[in-house]
This record gives sequence, C-alpha cells and structure tokens, in this order.
Amino acid sequence: MTLTADEVRARLAQLREHDLPTHGGRTLAYVYDSGLAEVDAIAKEAVAAYAGTNGLDPSVFPSVATMERDVVGFAARVLAAPEGYAGTVTSGGTESCLLAVLAARDAQPDVGRPQLVAPTTVHAAFHKAAHLFGLDLVLIDVDPSTFRADPDAMAAALTDRTVLVVASAPSYAHGVVDPVGPIAAAAAERGIRCHVDACIGGWVLPFLADEPSRGVAADRPAWDFSVPGVTSISADLHKYGYVPKGASILLHRSMALRHSQFWATADWPGYGVVNSTLQSTKSAGPLAAAWAVIHLLGDIGYAALARQAREGTLALAQEVDGIPGLRVLALPDSTLLAVGTDDSCDPYTVCDELLERGWFAQPQLPFRGGPASLHLTISAATTSKIPEFVAALRDSVTAAQSTGPVGVDPGLGSLLGTLDPATFDDATLSGLLAAAGLDSAAGGGLALPRRMAPIHALLAACPPALRSTLLTAVVERL
Ligand SMILES: Cc1ncc(COP(=O)(O)O)c(C=O)c1O
Repeated sequence: MTLTADEVRARLAQLREHDLPTHGGRTLAYVYDSGLAEVDAIAKEAVAAYAGTNGLDPSVFPSVATMERDVVGFAARVLAAPEGYAGTVTSGGTESCLLAVLAARDAQPDVGRPQLVAPTTVHAAFHKAAHLFGLDLVLIDVDPSTFRADPDAMAAALTDRTVLVVASAPSYAHGVVDPVGPIAAAAAERGIRCHVDACIGGWVLPFLADEPSRGVAADRPAWDFSVPGVTSISADLHKYGYVPKGASILLHRSMALRHSQFWATADWPGYGVVNSTLQSTKSAGPLAAAWAVIHLLGDIGYAALARQAREGTLALAQEVDGIPGLRVLALPDSTLLAVGTDDSCDPYTVCDELLERGWFAQPQLPFRGGPASLHLTISAATTSKIPEFVAALRDSVTAAQSTGPVGVDPGLGSLLGTLDPATFDDATLSGLLAAAGLDSAAGGGLALPRRMAPIHALLAACPPALRSTLLTAVVERL
C-alpha cells in the first residue's frame, strides 16, 4: 500500500506515540537531551545533509576525512591524548569497544587463545567482543562496597595470553570510575594494552575537572591519557556528546596502536576495501552531526552541560537517600545513579510505578551477589525536573511498598533452576514465556504487559545463561 508524503508523516508520528520520549528529560536511560533546541536543530540538518554520503571512501568524499579529523582532534584534546594519537569515529559505544578488542587481538597473533581481563562491571560490549572475536573473557570481582575494580586482583590475573585489560570511566551499572592508574600500570609493566571505556563518561568527566570536591569528586580516579599505560579510550558522541544516535570515538595513544584496527583487501574483483570500522558502507550523517554539535557547543557549551547534569545527579543522590526504602548503591563519580531498595519493595515495581507517572527508569537485575537496582542516567535536560522526579519517585516507592516485593511462583522458581537453555526447544520457550505472562498478540508478535515487574522478577530468578535465552526469545518474538 502506498501513502502520500503527508500520510507517511502522520503515520510515522503515530508510530512514535508509543515510544519513550527522546526529549524532555523524563527518560532516564537510553537517551541524552541537552535541552538546547539549537543543538538538536543543527544536528538534524547535518544528518539530513550527509545521510546519503558514503563514509566508506574518504578519497572520494574528502569532507568525511576532514570532519573525522576535526572531531577526533577535539576529543584528543579533551582526553589529554599526546602527540601522535590516532582515532576513529565509529557507529557507537559497542563498535568502539569491539574495535579496541579487535586491534589488541590482531596486534598479537602469536599468543594462542587470547585473553581479555576486565572487572565484572565492564559493559556487555566486551562480552560481545570476546564472543565474536574468540577471546577468553576473564572477569575479576569488584570491591563489593564501592563497586570499583580491584587493581591487585586484576594485575594478578594477567598472563602471557592477555592482550587487553579494560577499566571503565564510569561503569554503566553503578556509575563509578575504576582505579585506572594501578590497572594501567600493571598492564604496561607486562607490555599489555589498557583500554578505558569512557563511552558514557568521556564527554562529561573532562569538563568536571575543576568541580568543587564535595567529598565525592575529590577521589575520582584519573582515567584519561594523562595516566601512563592507558593505550586507548572510547567516548560516545551519541551519549553526553548530545549528538544523534550513531556516533562514538575510539582513540589510541599512537598511530602504531591503531594500525591493527584496520582491515583491507584488494583480493577480489571489485573496489579496494579499506575499513577502519566494522561497517563498510556507512552514512556520514552521524559524523556530520557530531562535527556540527561540537562546533556549536565547544568547550564552554560542553562544560555548562556537564556541570548541569552533574548538579542534577548530586541533588538527586541526596534526595534518593532521604526516601525510606531506597538507597544509592555507590557514590556517583559522574552522572549515573544505581538505586537499590530495602525489603519493603523491589526496584522493578518502582520502575513500573514511575512509568505510570510518566518517567522511565531502567531496571537492573541482581548480579553476582549484588542487589537488583534501578538505573538513572541524568542528562542536562533532566536537572530542572529533579524536584518533579523526586516527588514521582516518592509516590512510586509508596505504591510499590503497598503491594510489597513482586515474587515468582515457587514452582516456577524451582523449575527455572533445573532448565538447561542449551536443550530448549521452541515449545518449551513459548510455554515459559506464557507462564511469565507474555502472550501472543493478535498480529502474531508478542504482547508485552503494561507492568514488567513480574517479568523482571522471573529473569532475576534465572541463572544468567537462561536470562539471555529468555531475553532473546522475547525480542525475537517482538
Ligand atoms: C560504559 C559503556 N560502554 C559501552 C556502552 C555501549 O554503547 P552503545 O550502546 O552505544 O553501543 C555503553 C552504553 O551505555 C556504556 O555505558
């Protein structure tokens, strides 16, 4: 069925009605809103102007190379990269992390099965990298009270097969910066690369350097290229760079370190292929938007936005700790909060209640003995709404306490412990999903219930492998 252009517009607007709002500061995960209409407008114009430009070949689209050099140059200065740095604009955080791992692996082809050493709090992108590129992922427990990586335990885990060590600035789930100094030093001593995953902090933390201490910021560990031994850093433009989705940076300390990130071939009958990223043909739109937003905001604009988001985070942390039933799990080093509950309620129900009140917070499942929590990403646009959010959070907790923590049927709970996801057939999966309250919609897809707490409670009761199987089954059926 064809539609007129106006009908297409109307239909697209209608489709978006059920999505979370990307702007307005009420969605506290997934999206980043500067609150500045001019930033969004220039970014949209740039995406539109460059949507069809192919970033595959900067020799015929030289503006792509120019914009990439400019954007990488800005990031290099902000991240204290030394002379001789080399960087790439990628499609997102996961791609930047994947490429850091790939470059490290391919720089050392003779180690046998390569190893990646990381704290348990490292982003899932590194699990994916290990899976895709055939590395053993060695996860090291973090300090159970600060949630920061344990540098001694990480140093002890390094072997002749370790090609990369990773630390976060900050970690997504708890919002804390790992002690990068000793981790990078231990890696450097053995000639091992050290990547700092600053995907979510890379466009915030550098602009908070002169933040008054307040007892929180004072001991934030150093993490950028000023730390000896740090060989690469990822920093997402499409997060706190306030650029539309599809842009991140991977920066290496030197051109030599980046070299193994490239893939090239002329061994086929078509054009010569040289890829600095996992993609080949790629839109130059996100890069152009990054170029535009960076030039519009500059250091002063980013510093103002970073301070704004940070103010909001600290104010919110204080308020959360004053709400009976809630506690902030870790002192926030950046602009993220992990909020736990006591036994009077559970984080999943609090998230459902918040959604009823027009706010999105992201549920985080319990992990390695650590508690379940709700995750809050605070962007600049949220800060002016903190009092409104706190009121909604208070009401949500009261409502969640009135029903008590959501449970899993004891029979189902014990069954989950015995299931082996490796041997699942489709019927077993469908049965499990139905038992969890996920039924087929009229059109054949899966209908998600309005309240997700029972589903999260069910996932929480599953071993991690089963969680992955169930999550995949749900998304496949959507
Ligand atoms: C620390 C960290 N690393 C990597 C990623 C992955 O980024 P993306 O979702 O852009 O692929 C994220 C995303 O939140 C992150 O917070």
